[in-house]
Amino acid sequence: LAGKLVALLDGGAPLSPPPVWMMRQAGRYLPEYRAVRDQAGSFLNLCFNPELAAEVTMQPIRRFGFDAAILFSDILVVPHALGQFVAFEAGEGPRLTPLHELGRLSALRDELHADVVGKVYEAVRLIRATLPPDVDLLGFCGAPWTVATYMVAGRGGDDQIAAKLMAAREPDMFASLIDRLVDASIIYLVEQLRAGVDAVQIFDTWAGTLDPASFERWVIAPLAKIVAGVRAKVPNARIIAFPKGGAQHIDKLVSQTAVNGFGLDWTADSKQVRVANRGRAVLQGNLDPITLIAGGKALDQAIDNVLDNFSGERLIFNLGHGIRPETPIEHVERMIARVRGT
Ligand code: CP3
Repeated sequence: LAGKLVALLDGGAPLSPPPVWMMRQAGRYLPEYRAVRDQAGSFLNLCFNPELAAEVTMQPIRRFGFDAAILFSDILVVPHALGQFVAFEAGEGPRLTPLHELGRLSALRDELHADVVGKVYEAVRLIRATLPPDVDLLGFCGAPWTVATYMVAGRGGDDQIAAKLMAAREPDMFASLIDRLVDASIIYLVEQLRAGVDAVQIFDTWAGTLDPASFERWVIAPLAKIVAGVRAKVPNARIIAFPKGGAQHIDKLVSQTAVNGFGLDWTADSKQVRVANRGRAVLQGNLDPITLIAGGKALDQAIDNVLDNFSGERLIFNLGHGIRPETPIEHVERMIARVRGT
């Protein structure tokens, strides 16, 4: 017995209503999440405590009845498990020791620290044992390009500049960083699948900042290697790509990687996407998370637009990026009810 995401990703016909989940569905907009995070002491403690990570993963399922759960963790667990210092400052976002201060790539571990990622796989086993069988469980990792931007700059925000400069000035070094992340991501996703996730999503938040040639080199090519590497170990593994801001490249990306699903942000042109995709990848998205803060008629209209724009397509209803902490919970309830027509 599996759920609706699995049915779609395995090639099933469009579903009406579409299944629904939200990126960052376990997070600070929920009081029960904030309570567990306080109990854990810090965000990373929460990520590495399997019982608490499983608990916050389950919270939005219990409260809202989403069709899928997503493992509670973070994309920066991978650099942490490779030996790079990572911390999350309240209200400031992540801070890492920038790669050049580390003494470059040689300072990184060759393999993911087993004690660190072991906690993540343990959380997956706990979640899968608790989750109803018809609710699908998603695992994830960050895409090499996006993870590299944090590793090189030591922070997020506008600092993809640092990664772009390294790619331009030291292309061999940057390529070997991307290769290391490809290898680590393959193992990390394979182990999540073996621990019980039904599908994985690869988050490439900063994909849209690249020119087309760089997009092929740093987004599509590494993704193709990850998909092939994962499926060599787990045949038919279900994989969703989310190259934020990269919808114009859907034809090339789907042709070259054979992902099963493609995440869209709200800037995607649905007509162009449908024509270019030709029904191959399941489309996921793409409500602007700001409309979910706004609520009211603006929210209803935005939801209806997504449903209309992708009617007849194999759609997983989602936001176009993660839910923001200031979002009212009632708006999430309203969204789910409207998508399901209840
Ligand atoms: O979707 C989910 O609910 C699963 C958990 C998840 C988190 N981060 C939890 C989190 C997932 C899939 C991520 C992915 C992630 N993390 C991405 C890619 C997707 C995206 O949102 O762009 C990126 C770029 C990161 C890195 C990251 N983690 C940043 C920039 C921040 C700080 C900004 C912020 O929102 O606070 C985080 C912290 C983070 N990751 C939080 C959560 C719930 C907030 C931490 C807290 O509780 O204080």
